[in-house]
Amino acid sequence: MKKIALIPGDGIGPEITKETLKVLAKLDLNFEYVEYALGGVAIDKFNSPFPEETKEGVKKADAVLMAAIGGPKYDNLPREMRPETGLLALRQELKTFANIRPAMVFDSLAKLSTLKEEVVKGTDIVVIRELTGGIYFGKPSSNDGFTGINTMIYTKPEVQRIAKVAFEFAQKRDKRLCSVDKANVLNVSQLWRDSVIETAKAYPDVELTHMYVDNAAMQLIKNPKQFDVIVTGNLFGDILSDEASMLTGSIGLLPSASLGDGSLPGLYEPVHGSAPDIAGQGKANPMAMILSAAMMLRYSFSMEKEARILEAAIQAVLDRGIMTADLGGKASTVEIGDALANEVEKMSTVSA
Ligand code: NAD
Ligand code: IPM
Ligand code: MN
Repeated sequence: MKKIALIPGDGIGPEITKETLKVLAKLDLNFEYVEYALGGVAIDKFNSPFPEETKEGVKKADAVLMAAIGGPKYDNLPREMRPETGLLALRQELKTFANIRPAMVFDSLAKLSTLKEEVVKGTDIVVIRELTGGIYFGKPSSNDGFTGINTMIYTKPEVQRIAKVAFEFAQKRDKRLCSVDKANVLNVSQLWRDSVIETAKAYPDVELTHMYVDNAAMQLIKNPKQFDVIVTGNLFGDILSDEASMLTGSIGLLPSASLGDGSLPGLYEPVHGSAPDIAGQGKANPMAMILSAAMMLRYSFSMEKEARILEAAIQAVLDRGIMTADLGGKASTVEIGDALANEVEKMSTVSA
């Protein structure tokens, strides 16, 4: 029996969580789900975005599966009380320094992209984002109403441990790694680049290139197929992964895995947020969370077969044109969950 800490969070979070559980229930998993509060709901209930109960609970779990947190109701709270601060604290607590964000274009969606079909078709990128350092956590950090300060800081060991993850991913894929920085301007980026170059010596089979982040943002739209694996810092990775999501058709499709050194549970979360603009309307696309659950099966439990069933079910449902509004479709969140659950049931009977 594996214990999954489940964090439905805010906005569309509870809606997509329900469909994710519906689909997972069709696999033979022997999972126990324990729900914990994080973000806005935790502020409402415990007066803290990352309550003690959640902190203890997630550490005892075998994996953490979350939806999304945040919302306008909490935007004017002091920073330490904001939902986002709770999520950052969760990532720090679990020491998940490596955030894996794959952006793969399903063939049946290429024509739906806001970019030209021939530009996006066949795109298959993994953004590896450093998640527990950089400007998100650097000190000093303050805002006295006149001066606002954040500090972008990386140490060589921090860069090299994420670079190692990225090289190992590249080795299992097309063996091309692009490190994205701003070394033409920032000291922290020069340190980043020098450290990645040093790490590269252990991976002679991987072709390493470097790109400035402004150019990378442009190249992702111009010719996304030039990229295989991208490794970058916390802030640049946050921005580039949202950008990469639009190559696939919608941010409602992008999953992620946040991993540490393996001594603590992995955290699995969609790239998107709580989408307050569509919350409670049954319009949210649950696929990013379901694909995040597939990553959980793969990376935390080595259940490759089950992970692939979830991914194949998503592919099959998209191929049939069953989609939520973010992809131009008419299906509701629940209808997507039902269609996926049916598909998974069929596939697991065939493969059993
Ligand atoms: P967002 O990702 O929530 O939404 C951006 C746009 O994408 C919206 O138009 C939304 O409707 C759409 N969208 C997002 N997910 C979707 C889905 N699954 N299906 C259909 N459409 C979807 O980003 P935002 O509006 O900038 O942020 C809203 C809140 O979420 C903020 O409080 C922010 O801090 C928080 N946030 C949380 C996370 C997280 O929990 N990991 C990530 C990003 C943003
Ligand atoms: C993400 C989000 C978070 C981040 C916020 C909500 C703290 O945008 O997971 O991409 O910036 O990391
Ligand atoms: Mn983000």
